[in-house]
Amino acid sequence: MAKKGKTVFVCQECGYESPTWMGQCICGAWNSFVEEKEITITSEDSRRRARNSSSPMKLGDVGTKEYKRIDTGIGELNRVLGGGLVRGSLVLISGEPGIGKSTIIIQAAANIASCGKTVLYVSGEESEEQIRMRADRVCGEIPAGLLVLPETSMENVEEICRRVSPDFLIIDSIQTMYSDEMDSAPGSVSQVRACGNKLMKIGKTGDIPIFIVAHVTKNGDLAGPKTVEHLVDCVLSFGGERDQELRILRSFKNRFGTTSEIGAFMMAENGLQEVKDISGTFLEGKNEEAEGSVTAAVYEGSRPVMFEVQALVTPANVGFARRTAVGADNTRLSMILAVLEKKAGLPLMNQDVYINIVGGLRPEGTSVDLAVALAIFSSLRNTAAPEKTLAIGELGLTGDLRPVRSADKIVREAARMGYRRVLLPYGNRNGIREVSEECRIFYIKNIREALRVFSGK
Ligand code: TYD
Ligand code: MG
Repeated sequence: MAKKGKTVFVCQECGYESPTWMGQCICGAWNSFVEEKEITITSEDSRRRARNSSSPMKLGDVGTKEYKRIDTGIGELNRVLGGGLVRGSLVLISGEPGIGKSTIIIQAAANIASCGKTVLYVSGEESEEQIRMRADRVCGEIPAGLLVLPETSMENVEEICRRVSPDFLIIDSIQTMYSDEMDSAPGSVSQVRACGNKLMKIGKTGDIPIFIVAHVTKNGDLAGPKTVEHLVDCVLSFGGERDQELRILRSFKNRFGTTSEIGAFMMAENGLQEVKDISGTFLEGKNEEAEGSVTAAVYEGSRPVMFEVQALVTPANVGFARRTAVGADNTRLSMILAVLEKKAGLPLMNQDVYINIVGGLRPEGTSVDLAVALAIFSSLRNTAAPEKTLAIGELGLTGDLRPVRSADKIVREAARMGYRRVLLPYGNRNGIREVSEECRIFYIKNIREALRVFSGK
């Protein structure tokens, strides 16, 4: 026997392995240990492996190759993948249940199959009929090359892949698959890891791109999918609010492209629709005369995205004032409030402050600081922002504004969209090319100056 089994206890939250059961893991989770069989490799095994292993070569002698990419027929998905699906790549797509992972995948699958390719859709969650119903809803005509397989055994999937040799394989979802090599339950850390390894073998040996669906919970990731993140080439995350239509696709890891691209979709009656004019969508319904509302922008991947920041400042009733931010960082909000209080003299101590980024966007980075500060000021003073004004900039603890990335491209887009005033950090001054006469740019040094310009003094 080359392999022998040993029992270990694995934390289902963080993947920590312990020889004994523990009530609380080192990650802080309670009751998270599950008994699993560990497969150990004997020294005889590793010697055999060593004999078969290949020899190193000079990196300079290694040839380069162009990645062959497959068009998924969904522009926003192609963009996030870095220009299409790379052959032989493994893509993990994670998101909360019900967010639309199966929907985006069946749409891509149908598009690829309609170009004469064979697509194998393995579902461990739904029956053929359920998949058919969804496909009828979103794909129109169902192409002949689209094959479905309700299956949860990894070994059977391997066997069928050998028989069918698909051009594209989908596993929906990794948490429902199990491999006979492990006797723990599907979805447990070691099962997910074992299935991930098998999928990698299928993908790399057959040069088949594979989409792996993984469910995550609202408050963070489950350990299962996390343990395969290092195996896969791309990790995409599909997010949004289930009761709103907007869905944002991001990539956290991408061996074949950048991770800063986002894709935007609307969940409609007949599947996911791409959103091309993303700023227009976020700013739809913005009331130019409302106080506490300021437009901000971030540069995501290859395009600027504009959105509305809302603030509501009301006198606090008793005790501590409440500070709540939706879509923005709470710690950052406390910092901005402290800067406004100390550096600009705004009386905010006894005020409740609420911040909301409209449309469910969660902008990353700090360039939204200035808009948050101005929205708070606008609500506190009950004055609306000057019409068609955009504000970007990072706020330092000294009250100074710090430059932001890609400001030039944001300014260009703002001018194109008819913005008349753009508030920018002084440090961005040199990087900005002239824009149209109608769009005035204010280069601002600190928060006091920002408030002055904002209120038109
Ligand atoms: P689904 O793709 O099944 O989510 P996931 O695989 O991430 O769990 O889609 C879930 C929701 O999307 C479902 O509640 C209904 C809604 N939906 C639409 O609004 N329009 C559609 O065309 C489809 C297919 C689903
Ligand atoms: Mg699903």
